[in-house]
Amino acid sequence: MSPQVGDLFDDGLSSADASAKALNRSVELAARRVQELSQALHHHAHAYYTLDAPEIPDAEYDRLFRELQALESAHPELLTPDSPTQRVGGQVLDAFAPVTHRVPMLSIRTETDTEASGAEAFDTRIRKELGLTDADPAVDYVAELKFDGLAMSLRYEGGVLSQAATRGDGETGEDVTANIRTIGQIPLRLPTDAPPVLEVRGEVYMRRGDFEALNERQRQRIAAGAKGEKTFVNPRNAAAGAVRQLDSGIAAERPLSFFAYGLGDITGPAEGGPQWRTHYDMLQQLKVWGFPVAQQTACVQGASGLVAFHKRIAAERDALPYDIDGVVYKVNDLAQQQRLGFVTREPRWAVAHKYPAQEEMTTVQAIDVQVGRTGKLTPVAKLAPVFVGGVTVTNATLHNELEARRKDVRVGDTVIVRRAGDVIPEVVSVVLDRRPPDAPQFTMMSHCPVCGSLAEREDGEADHRCTGGLFCSAQRKQAIWHFAHRRAMDVDGLGDKLVDQLVDTAQVQTLADLYHLKLDTLANMDRMAEKSAVNLLEALEKSKTTTLGRFIFSLGIRHVGEATAKELARHFGQLDAVMAASEDALLQVADVGPVVAHSIRTFFDQPHNREVVQALRDAGVSWPEGDALAPTEMPLAGITVVLTGTLQSMGRDEAKEKLEALGAKVAGSVSKKTHYVVAGAEAGSKLEKAQALGVPVLDDTGLAVLLTGEKP
Ligand code: IVH
Repeated sequence: MSPQVGDLFDDGLSSADASAKALNRSVELAARRVQELSQALHHHAHAYYTLDAPEIPDAEYDRLFRELQALESAHPELLTPDSPTQRVGGQVLDAFAPVTHRVPMLSIRTETDTEASGAEAFDTRIRKELGLTDADPAVDYVAELKFDGLAMSLRYEGGVLSQAATRGDGETGEDVTANIRTIGQIPLRLPTDAPPVLEVRGEVYMRRGDFEALNERQRQRIAAGAKGEKTFVNPRNAAAGAVRQLDSGIAAERPLSFFAYGLGDITGPAEGGPQWRTHYDMLQQLKVWGFPVAQQTACVQGASGLVAFHKRIAAERDALPYDIDGVVYKVNDLAQQQRLGFVTREPRWAVAHKYPAQEEMTTVQAIDVQVGRTGKLTPVAKLAPVFVGGVTVTNATLHNELEARRKDVRVGDTVIVRRAGDVIPEVVSVVLDRRPPDAPQFTMMSHCPVCGSLAEREDGEADHRCTGGLFCSAQRKQAIWHFAHRRAMDVDGLGDKLVDQLVDTAQVQTLADLYHLKLDTLANMDRMAEKSAVNLLEALEKSKTTTLGRFIFSLGIRHVGEATAKELARHFGQLDAVMAASEDALLQVADVGPVVAHSIRTFFDQPHNREVVQALRDAGVSWPEGDALAPTEMPLAGITVVLTGTLQSMGRDEAKEKLEALGAKVAGSVSKKTHYVVAGAEAGSKLEKAQALGVPVLDDTGLAVLLTGEKP
């Protein structure tokens, strides 16, 4: 309710007194509203940043935020350091003030062994130091993630964030409060049951997605000519840069996150307030007070519990939205922690157990351009060999000219290479400081490096292609490898080196030439024994009896993968029908969209492709032709299945073939559109994804039911 002017004159005051009173009243109302708004904004920021469960739309949050900003600028005396508006930064410093940590910030001993035995060694040491014998029960541990960011101490006095300090040398850090206030996940004010003084310790980090977006923005700034800007080599480096920004307005533009994992100074806890006996309970309390605690944090027992955690997190690591470089084990019982104490700067009750690094630095020795089966030109960075993610990496694809330019990778550059899980290695970023002065920007060549034909980029496409078609020996070689592939015509013994020789010596110009190869030609090739030549001729002979699906796939039509080829075969039944089908008719096939339909039509419109097909038929390649099947007659039509892990009843290829014969589509990755995931032993991330998305998971028995055409 707004004050009524009339009310103010009723108690017989002079008009000057009355206006002073009115002013007080309006300040009082503003103060009340500021409090309401800041409470609401604290609540919604926690719901949004920490719980990931916003309760109001962003626009509504912004409206409340702006209202508070307006009130604070009209009444500067109402502005407090814990106001939600103080998260946006703005303060510019000359230097950071030193902060003496009242409780030193320790570091953690690192177990050098990345294998399971690292966990066992820790447990053995703890048991020994606690004087436990084999008869005593397993030790309780808390297992946490080892976040790859920077340690931070957050001091709350009277429940309000009063200071945020970096670790520094452990004794003295730097006051980075203004920057840390910009982190939405960090509470600026604690509930009233928090102790009068509380220091929460944890890790400030940057999520991978935020890091990539930040680097992309930085690249654009650099491209636009901004001076003094740089890209960051990894999320940790970007987080450290943001935390140590003297201009907190810039820090606010660099999205940081936080996880709590410990305590520093504490007085109290407040009388009658909470108390905890274990590290785990303390973390639960921090969560209640509004701090993010990683959900993977677990209570485990003994060495076997630690080993299982290390393994489980290794499997989940690549799917996490942020980097970890290991896990941390801590003795759970605080009394036991105290008994164990410290050695120099490290607690005896905790250890870090690492994983192999996923990122390393190396140099770009050259950027080669490779020609793919369909003529796609791919720039590939040739790297000084580097061991990363468990393998030695010497190549990293740059995908296409746009991507190579976007990352601005140049010969001579020092780059960060990442290989996570089974994903192909990639160049994450360039270390610009180390660029040689005259490194030229990469440009795609105008002609194919193999056959010299014009290289073209179609409108709206990122890729350049060699226009040489099968005239280009690189394309011809790959067309032949593809043709011979196990899942295509399945010609055993036709290896890459042999194909290279056959094409280079002009023995094989078209696919059909394969079927006219003579024993002596083959036996004369390098490293070909007569026996292998005989075997290859037999394999070629055997491959002539095939299926329509395999044959269509083997032709290497752009955009026609194995599944589409099988769909085409099933839909049309006969090759002539496929070859004659209009784009409209092709669009009737499950999975075929306009791009694929156009590509198929274009392929069969080329006379030389029709000639190759005819020559293959003349050479004796054949398949049983059938009638066109209406896809809906198939019992599993429209069902998408993903196979993962080792099945007991049959191999994955066999399961795939059987499912497809019933009309199911077998996909390689799990999405919301997947109907079933069949998971065998040692199923990994696909199984987890299925569980996360609520996709039904079948075992061998479920698969058997599915193969009867029933939907379990
Ligand atoms: S506890 C008394 N827990 O690793 C133990 N540290 O040297 C203090 N780190 O500087 C650290 N994740 O920045 C702890 N779950 C975790 C951690 C963690 C990452 C960092 C921290 C510290 C370094 C250990």
